[in-house]
Amino acid sequence: MTSTDPFLAACRGLPHGRTPVWFMRQAGRSLPEYRAVRGEGSILDAIADPSLAAELTLQPVLRYGVDAAILYSDIVVPVSAVGFGVDVRPGVGPVVEQPFADESDLERLRPLEPETDTPYVLEALKILVDESPVPVIGFAGAPFTVASYLIEGSPSRTYGRTKALMSGNPDLWFRLIDRLADLAISSLRSQIDGGAAAVQLFDSWAGALSPAAYERFVQPATRRVFDAVPDVPRIHFGVGTGEILHLMADTGCDVVGVDWRIPIDVARDRLGPDTVLQGNLDPAVCLGSIDVVEAEVADILRRNDGHPGHVFNLGHGVLPETDPAVLEQVVHQVHEMSPNLNSLRNHRMT
Ligand code: CP3
Repeated sequence: MTSTDPFLAACRGLPHGRTPVWFMRQAGRSLPEYRAVRGEGSILDAIADPSLAAELTLQPVLRYGVDAAILYSDIVVPVSAVGFGVDVRPGVGPVVEQPFADESDLERLRPLEPETDTPYVLEALKILVDESPVPVIGFAGAPFTVASYLIEGSPSRTYGRTKALMSGNPDLWFRLIDRLADLAISSLRSQIDGGAAAVQLFDSWAGALSPAAYERFVQPATRRVFDAVPDVPRIHFGVGTGEILHLMADTGCDVVGVDWRIPIDVARDRLGPDTVLQGNLDPAVCLGSIDVVEAEVADILRRNDGHPGHVFNLGHGVLPETDPAVLEQVVHQVHEMSPNLNSLRNHRMT
């Protein structure tokens, strides 16, 4: 992969030919070819089968012509691999048999040894390094979001127990997220060594926190994760993060993911003109008419104003009921429209 690869160049804010595009959850139930080979079992079993994981990773690349592949895996893989007791229930998400409650539960979070605990991740990457025509993104769950699953036991709307642990027992909270930061670091480093050309840290639910809580209880651990993986472009993503975006940007990441609640020009105004952004089409818009989708895509590109530091994406994952033809059209439109915008901007700058 050369430095003129559009995705890697955009992550660095460097000039390139066209706006790159990929979609969070691009491999998934919206694809008939995914449903055909995925079977009924736990997603953790599918992830543990390297040739299946590699095939599922490549399905959206082949169908959509996206500019990056994201490894088919899940944010709970490291905690599950060290034996915490997590499953991912279809239609629900991660479910923990015995939620994290007190100090004794720290022992259930020993360090990850990627070569022996998750060899299948490295084997899938080995296949992808040979077979993927585009850079492969490795990823991990950020300490806060993974902690919220371990503490709540299942997906939560309020994060009540998580916030109660933070404020009620900060010492235990910091020890917990320190261990989760270590797990994320080991996992990301091994994915990079295995060939991942960029990484994304998913702090999907960080938007549930106030700026003060984020800054005190989350930002230091997240910064430690990014500091440990300086070798490749680092993307930082969360949902509903408009009010903490400046804090999420200030963690050592290279690219800030934004959801649809904050227009891309407003995000760049808040974070500074050199900020590299990823996003931010509302995935639910893709369930509507193609005219509306086209107008929204055009609006995002217009708001980005030809800035080279833009990776087009959805504001969150592809919804399972999405028609793949719509995403195909989005990729086509982003690729068609963006060279014009880039040359427009270069022209204006001269
Ligand atoms: O295409 C990709 O984005 C790559 C693979 C990927 C998956 N999970 C596969 C998956 C990635 C990057 C993730 C990350 C992940 N997992 C996050 C962060 C991203 C986000 O959505 O905010 C979170 C919060 C999880 C936890 C998780 N795993 C949830 C909430 C669910 C949904 C449950 C459901 O069935 O709707 C999962 C399951 C999951 N992970 C699926 C996929 C493709 C669903 C389908 C299946 O079981 O085959």
